[in-house]
Amino acid sequence: MTTVDLPLLPLGRGTDLSAERGVECPGDLPAASDPGLVARAQAAKEALGDRVFVLGHHYQRDEVIQFADVTGDSFKLARDAAARPEAEFIVFCGVHFMAESADILTGPEQKVILPDLAAGCSMADMARLRQVEDAWDALTEAGIADSVVPVTYMNSSADIKAFCGRNGGAVCTSSNAEVALEWAFDQKPDAKVLFLPDQHLGRNTAVLKMGLTLDDCVVWDPHRPHGGLTAEQLRDAKMILWKGHCSVHGRFSPAVVDELRATIPDVQILVHPECQHEVVLKADLVGSTEFIIKTIEAAPAGSSWAIGTELNLVKRLAAAHPDKHIAFLDKTVCYCSTMNRIDLPHFVWAMESLVAGTVVNQIEVDPETERWAQVALQRMLDLPGRSHKD
Ligand code: 13P
Ligand code: SF4
Repeated sequence: MTTVDLPLLPLGRGTDLSAERGVECPGDLPAASDPGLVARAQAAKEALGDRVFVLGHHYQRDEVIQFADVTGDSFKLARDAAARPEAEFIVFCGVHFMAESADILTGPEQKVILPDLAAGCSMADMARLRQVEDAWDALTEAGIADSVVPVTYMNSSADIKAFCGRNGGAVCTSSNAEVALEWAFDQKPDAKVLFLPDQHLGRNTAVLKMGLTLDDCVVWDPHRPHGGLTAEQLRDAKMILWKGHCSVHGRFSPAVVDELRATIPDVQILVHPECQHEVVLKADLVGSTEFIIKTIEAAPAGSSWAIGTELNLVKRLAAAHPDKHIAFLDKTVCYCSTMNRIDLPHFVWAMESLVAGTVVNQIEVDPETERWAQVALQRMLDLPGRSHKD
């Protein structure tokens, strides 16, 4: 088995277009200090009218989110993109894997634009196709590949989604992971799940929602021979978790939860399922970004919350709900650096280029990858209901 090397490229440098990591952003950007940027963005949006549809993930900066036609979590944005066949351009203020999914779910004549190509996702980069194929070979050698259903988190590259589509699996997001796992375990007698690439979402859903135990889960480490597991361990497991994680949500710790509970009376801890299992175990509520927003909207005035998710969203919630006490579940600043790559200069540049008739930073998935990734995404969109009340 080959272990694939993952050299870290500095963001914004390099030319690995197949990766979620940074590539050069071409063109002349307006200066960030230009006081006319907001007016320029408004003018470009007005000039494009219904030809453009702007999507904004909840982790985007305020300066960009103000121009979004819709905001949402990964699941909602995927559906929103698919529901706009009349828009010629979809400008995706989010990260690369989201723009890829939008390209897969929109028509061939629609163009999806990511204002900064360096807006990748380190978690998505942690599962590369060659590595996943190696893991699948090991499952085949262990005699269990026929009973394994691969499920990938939305936060993965299009070729990993296509791998899941080709092998009878599906995509899930943080708002439907439970339903997706129920679906996967129903696909075959004695089914096992290979969960990519976020071990935490996989473990939290399996143990806290599906009633599996920690002993039912093993972690496949793509940087160790045979994933660091024996064939017997693979055969005994119900959940084979990929060793990937979100570097933003990985920062939240059980110790800070304890500290906040000791210092803020009646505080409720609300976290995203990308957090470590030990943090989620100590939380009061867990759910996707959309779930977090709805929970705070429905909370009574005067209630106290500590939220474990990306800081742009937590700050926006605190500003929108001055009648509630909203704290951040980490002592230090914790933005998603790649989400933050989409700033006003990049947005203005992308929009003004469209007005001038030039399509920049188009995200296009190749037809064969698209075909199978679409199968996996459609299986997700066809799942009944959603696991959270959102
Ligand atoms: P959701 O928006 O699906 O909750 O995902 C959070 C996230 O980390 C996106 O990258
Ligand atoms: Fe990726 Fe985490 Fe950033 Fe989401 S918050 S885009 S999972 S690094």
